[in-house]
Amino acid sequence: METKPTDEECCDPPILEVNNLSVIRSGKIVLKDVDLTIQKGEFIGLVGPNGSGKSTLLLSLLGVLKPHNGSISIYGDVPNPRNFFGRIGWVSQAASYLPRQVKLTVRELVKLGTISGKNMFSWSDGSNEKVSRAIEMVGLEDVENVDVSRLSGGQRQRAVIARALATEAEFILLDEPLVGMDRDARNSLLKLLDQLCHHAGKTILMVSHDLTAIRQTAHRMIFLEEKIWFDGPTNLFPDLDILADLRGITPAHDSPIQIQEIPWAEEV
Ligand SMILES: Nc1ncnc2c1ncn2[C@@H]1O[C@H](COP(=O)(O)OP(=O)(O)OP(=O)(O)O)[C@@H](O)[C@H]1O
Ligand SMILES: [Mg+2]
Repeated sequence: METKPTDEECCDPPILEVNNLSVIRSGKIVLKDVDLTIQKGEFIGLVGPNGSGKSTLLLSLLGVLKPHNGSISIYGDVPNPRNFFGRIGWVSQAASYLPRQVKLTVRELVKLGTISGKNMFSWSDGSNEKVSRAIEMVGLEDVENVDVSRLSGGQRQRAVIARALATEAEFILLDEPLVGMDRDARNSLLKLLDQLCHHAGKTILMVSHDLTAIRQTAHRMIFLEEKIWFDGPTNLFPDLDILADLRGITPAHDSPIQIQEIPWAEEV
């Protein structure tokens, strides 16, 4: 596991720069004074308790939610979902829970990733190659003509990731992609994401409650709870007790709590 992008990559302008960001939802401050810079090639794990603002941060980066204060610059521009096609791939929380009545093969689902407002009526055969490549990258060639509803949870998650890859996005945002996966599927997805980062030049920002898994894969970790409490190399990620202390949380039990008993730190 590499720990940093190369020097060459560090000299490139950052993909993302967030300064002093605050976001309000339903009259309540959800994010406050968030500063964040992401360079090409990084694999970042974003963690924090339920309701701590992780999805809100991703939606703000995508331009779906507007800042109350501060600024976001992504590829040098303010976020605008209309300009993101081919640059940013998003795998939403529970994206793979497709309704049962949706009848789509893996190939058809992935193909949807190549359709934008601009090419909707002029979809070219060249896009077929992108679709094949994306399916190959996630290793679903054998089931490409199978209905998505017949896949396992892990395979479905791979299919929605392939849809994001088919856009040829360089920066991939994933919100809880490991939910509902068994250990083997989870490990192979993490391996895939690691390969995408190291060998396919992707930059990855992944939200997960699975601290163990994310620690094994991400180079950098961010702990968010309204604001950023930790941002640094994974090997320096502090103990949960230290983080709780920082956040002013006192233990409810005299004896130390096991990590597994803290809901947001559970293995999913
Ligand atoms: N659509 C919404 N409208 C108003 N407030 C919302 C909305 N969605 C979320 N919130 C609030 O914003 C806060 C942050 O929610 P968010 O979904 O970003 O948390 P999260 O860290 O992604 O949580 P989880 O781990 O449960 O997915 C919460 O207090 C939540 O109640
Ligand atoms: Mg969320």
